[in-house]
Amino acid sequence: MSKTAKIVILFIVVIAIGWGIGKYTSAPSASEEEGTVVSDGSALQGQPDASAEPSPVASVNPDEQDQGTSGNNTGAEGSTADPEENASENTAPNPTTVATNKPGTPDSGNNAAELTAAEPESMSVMVNKQYKLPDKYKPSDLVYPNVRFLFSEKIEKRMMRRTAAGALEEMFAGAKKDGIQLAGVSAYRSEKTQTRLFNNYVDRDGEEKARTYSAVPGHSEHQTGLAIDISGSDGKCAAESCFAGTPEADWLASHAAEYGFIIRYPEGKESITGYKYEPWHVRYVGKEIAASIAEKGITLEEYFDAVPVSN
Ligand code: DAL
Ligand code: ZN
Repeated sequence: MSKTAKIVILFIVVIAIGWGIGKYTSAPSASEEEGTVVSDGSALQGQPDASAEPSPVASVNPDEQDQGTSGNNTGAEGSTADPEENASENTAPNPTTVATNKPGTPDSGNNAAELTAAEPESMSVMVNKQYKLPDKYKPSDLVYPNVRFLFSEKIEKRMMRRTAAGALEEMFAGAKKDGIQLAGVSAYRSEKTQTRLFNNYVDRDGEEKARTYSAVPGHSEHQTGLAIDISGSDGKCAAESCFAGTPEADWLASHAAEYGFIIRYPEGKESITGYKYEPWHVRYVGKEIAASIAEKGITLEEYFDAVPVSN
C-alpha cells in the first residue's frame, strides 16, 4: 500500500472514531436540560397514569377562608355544555402534565420539582402543589353558569369553563329535586386574584399555615375554571369548616360524581393533596373519572398514580 493510501485510510479511521464518540457523549439539548415540554410520556418525571390505588390517610383540621371578592348586583347568564368537549373528556386518563424544574418559584423550596401542565385546557388536568399551570394561564371558554351564587354580580369568580358550567347547572338542578338548595361561592380565579388572596392569607396566618388551605399562585384549581366552592343557599359556613356535615355537603359528597365533579380535598387525604379537608371545593373532571374516584374513595393524585404530593 502506498504511503498516500495509508494516510487516507488513517484519516478516514480518525474521522469515524470521532463521529462515534460525538454521537454518544454530546451534551443534552436545551429542552432536556431545562426539562421543558416533551411529548413522550415515558420521559415525564412524575407523569401519572390511570392505574392508581388508594393510599394512606392523614388527619385534617379544616379552617378555610378561601373567598374572593363579593358583590350585590345583576344576574348570571346561561351557558351550554360543549358536546365535543364532553365526548373527549373521559378518553384520556393522562393528566397531561409535563416535567419542568423551575427553581426560584415560591414553592420550590419545599418541593423536589415543580411541574407544569402541558395541556391545561384538558378536563383531566391535574393542578396541585407540585403541578402548576403555565404562567398567567387563562381558560379560553369561561362562561357564567346559570345557577344561584351568594352574590349577584357578573364578576370573575362567577365564571367556569363551558363544559364544567353546563355540568354545574345540571348538578344544581339535581340537588334541587332532592330538596337541596346550593349556591356558588367562588369559581374561576385569575392568577392575579389568587396572588392577592394568598398574600392576604400569608399576612394573616403566616406562609406555612396559609399553604394548608390556599394554593400558591399558579397552583390553584380555581385558575383552571374547572373548580368551584359551593355552599347552601343561605351562605352559612360558606367555604368554612362548619360546612362539613351540612345537608348540602352530604349531598355533594354523595352525588357530585354523577355530574362529573369530585370532592377534590377529601377528609383524611391531607397528606396526599397537601390541603385541609374542603367539603365545599368541587372539581369537574368528567363523569368517568369522577365515578372511578368516588367509587374507590381516592384523590385525583391517586387516580393518576401521582402520590405523594409534596407539602
Ligand atoms: N383552597 C384551594 C386549595 C385553592 O386555593 O385553590
Ligand atoms: Zn376552592
